[in-house]
Amino acid sequence: MKSTSIRHLRESLALLPMEGLAPVSEFYRRLFELAPEVRLLFKRDMDLQAKKFSETLAWVIAHLEHRQDLCQELRELGARHSAYGVKIDQYAPVGSALIWMFQRTLGVRFTPKMEEARLEFYAFASLEMERGFSANSAAARWDRPINPLTSAYRDDAAQHRPSPLRPIRVPRRPAAALRQPARPGAADP
Ligand code: HEM
Repeated sequence: MKSTSIRHLRESLALLPMEGLAPVSEFYRRLFELAPEVRLLFKRDMDLQAKKFSETLAWVIAHLEHRQDLCQELRELGARHSAYGVKIDQYAPVGSALIWMFQRTLGVRFTPKMEEARLEFYAFASLEMERGFSANSAAARWDRPINPLTSAYRDDAAQHRPSPLRPIRVPRRPAAALRQPARPGAADP
């Protein structure tokens, strides 16, 4: 990513209120509105999840200049996500909910340049996660131990045909498209 994009990313992160997890909890609330089916994938305490998610995002944004370490971490994160039962198509609503969280929390302070940098960042991060994800799905057919917690995913993985990497589905522009509800009836509160 360009240094100006990195600067916009860091500035937008710095503007988020530091106390509590309110913005990230809002992010999850929005995600479950956009994609209610992903709610069941989250088995653990959501406050802990929100904390881990925001810490990881902050770590990633702090390490954008260390591309090799960063890509390795993101691929490992993606591989873990395939084990959680996440489907590649579910990356898009997560990207939308993330932008929505910034729009809602920062209002006009979330500038178009910041939004563009966020979209570029999410496209990059999810592409790397998909790389780890696809590698793990391929391995899952042979190597995964039998685990009742993930058996539903194993059945699915058995039929999974890893496809060549596709371009990221998160729309970069127009930003207004991200504000559209994913399906009729899922309107902003
Ligand atoms: C930039 C993108 C993302 C980041 C930084 C991220 C970060 C995280 C982190 C830090 C965890 C905690 C466990 C771990 O470290 O492995 C986690 C768990 C999880 N994430 Fe993500 N995630 C991202 C994208 C997604 C997407 C697209 C989905 C799709 C719905 C998703 C669903 C989940 C689920 C289901 C769990 C496990 C929760 C549980 O076990 O209760 N994540 N994520």
